[in-house]
Amino acid sequence: MTSFQAPTGTRDVLAPESARFARLISTFAREAQRAGYGLLISPMFEDLAVFNRGIGEDSEVVTKEMYTFEDKGGRNLALRPEGTASVVRAFVQHRPLLPWKAWYVTPAFRYERPQAGRYRQHHQLGVEVLGSDDPDLDVEVIALLHDYLHRVGLRQLTLRVNSMGDENCRPAYLEVLVSYLGEHQARLCDEHQEGWEKNPLRVLDCKRPACQLVLRDAPRFADSLCEECELHIARVLEGLDAVGVRYSRDDFLVRGFDYYTRTTFEFSSSALEGAQNAVGGGGRYNGLTEALGGPATPGIGFGSGIERVLLAQEAEGLFDNEEPALELFVIDLAGGEHARDLTYQLRSLGLSCDRAFDHRSMKAQLRMADRSGARIALIVGQDEIEKGEVTLRVLRGEHEHHQEQVARGVMVERIRELLS
Ligand code: HAM
Repeated sequence: MTSFQAPTGTRDVLAPESARFARLISTFAREAQRAGYGLLISPMFEDLAVFNRGIGEDSEVVTKEMYTFEDKGGRNLALRPEGTASVVRAFVQHRPLLPWKAWYVTPAFRYERPQAGRYRQHHQLGVEVLGSDDPDLDVEVIALLHDYLHRVGLRQLTLRVNSMGDENCRPAYLEVLVSYLGEHQARLCDEHQEGWEKNPLRVLDCKRPACQLVLRDAPRFADSLCEECELHIARVLEGLDAVGVRYSRDDFLVRGFDYYTRTTFEFSSSALEGAQNAVGGGGRYNGLTEALGGPATPGIGFGSGIERVLLAQEAEGLFDNEEPALELFVIDLAGGEHARDLTYQLRSLGLSCDRAFDHRSMKAQLRMADRSGARIALIVGQDEIEKGEVTLRVLRGEHEHHQEQVARGVMVERIRELLS
């Protein structure tokens, strides 16, 4: 019989990694809700045009990476490659009150070359805010991502910030950029010797040494910004200073989507490999709502890869002293009723506990208790039943190997003492 594997570039997430995954989501949910964001749940696939128009027909994600399909009704659909376009589509459809602050957690599908930290299905946590161009909102959004990444323990982080200008000043910048790249065309990397004219901003994103050399003296966004954009980014940077978020300005931070205007930002982890070291990024997209058929409405947001954050946490050694997930394991050598009733009682008191089934031997049950990661085994045999007691055996932690028999009436109190 053929046995199946998860498709290339996708992965199953089993415990204990899945518990870390869930912890990231609950931490993020708490941070986002505390800042006034509400959860948005939207479909994982959309009309193909939502992404074509939203992300940009020429962007790499749209031209090379989208999972597109026709459904049985002949509709052209695509699996979501990122979160923003769908959120904005939902905004245009429902027109909630402004400003609208939404957070989400979603799988994202991109047909990329799979490697460590780059998958064809990855998962993002993110926020989007529609309805305000206030630079203090940029500060709030960037600080939210900063605080979440810190809350989950990451320390080896750098934040880069840029302003890409707007419809007033971007054309002038593009003109000087195109003229500069034209002069140095022969020195660009192989890929960009061809494509640079169609989308010159992509060259700014290129990490290959040839392009990097050319970029050293390339014109910078900062020198072309109009007064409004200049004031906007100045206020953003002032705000980041005020709330204590450290950053560096990166004139070439353009990111991969065509919707960005003004502020862009990205957090990288120096604990991760270069090309896959971004743990979250985002920016403003003041023209996106109109591109999707809505009224002109400024927006800003970010996405943070769950897998990337997990890799960064691991690289920073945050799982080395991880607490076991389970507190107790009940071992019943007298028919199973005690395990049935005790696990129910202990769980309802808020303790985490598991048990063995199928009347296993003492040795087998102890092995399972050990494997479960539980800190304490509760053992109930004939002797304990006759005395109205249970045996507590500490399996790991400070009191490892300690064993005592306690009366049922004080059992919970004693367990809590041993666990604390
Ligand atoms: P993005 O930078 O493409 O932005 O993705 C956000 C984050 O998702 C990245 O920083 C990275 O952590 C993770 N990520 C991206 N691609 C992969 C992959 N193939 N495998 C694993 N992780 C990945 C966006 O998607 C924008 N929608 C962010 C945004 C929100 N901009 C404004 N609002």
